[in-house]
Amino acid sequence: MQIPIHSLVTVVRHPLVQMKLTQLRDVRTGSDEFRARVGELAVLMLFEATRDLDETVRSIQTPLAPCEGRALVRPLVVAPILRAGLGMLEGMLRLLPDVSVAHIGMFRNEETRRPESYYFKAPAHVAEADVLVVDPMLATGWSAAAAIAQLKAHGACRIRFVCLVSCPEGLAHLAQSHPEVPVFTAAVDPGLNEKAYIVPGLGDAGDRYFGTAG
Ligand code: URA
Repeated sequence: MQIPIHSLVTVVRHPLVQMKLTQLRDVRTGSDEFRARVGELAVLMLFEATRDLDETVRSIQTPLAPCEGRALVRPLVVAPILRAGLGMLEGMLRLLPDVSVAHIGMFRNEETRRPESYYFKAPAHVAEADVLVVDPMLATGWSAAAAIAQLKAHGACRIRFVCLVSCPEGLAHLAQSHPEVPVFTAAVDPGLNEKAYIVPGLGDAGDRYFGTAG
């Protein structure tokens, strides 16, 4: 499949991001290191994904003089897709400890092979916020698209999607379902295997992060 890199997909090729992603992919990386790398990558990706947020002037006083500083125009909401998205949330909360969080729980219906929602809780101001949907893996794109649809149903209209590893299938599905949503990813891998895992990918991100791999 051709890689649909359109103008709304940003591949973050920064050397620190690529170095940490390589450590994350390595099968020898254990849960403790994996957690640390996911947290660090989440911060670096957050930096890129928020680069062009609208700012406003904020007048303050330094100890020496008045000063015109900057503040974000809108509140930020981070929306992890459970469960693997929680790892990225933790990293982001270290940088932005006062943001609100929208939790989105999805499980895969093994008959239909489609995501189904089991939990959704967003802050009341989600409609006024800049919302970052986070999930380390953008595989088929069905969960991401469903999560964004739920947020839109609750009024969210400024949504960005942040992941670590994506693939052409997921990017294409997201572009088709929500063409206005910018996507930030550290890598676009060649494709999916028969179990819908990204290859080469990094395996099951949730299992590696939470130490639940069989
Ligand atoms: N979820 C994962 O954790 N890994 C994949 O490769 C695809 C989906």
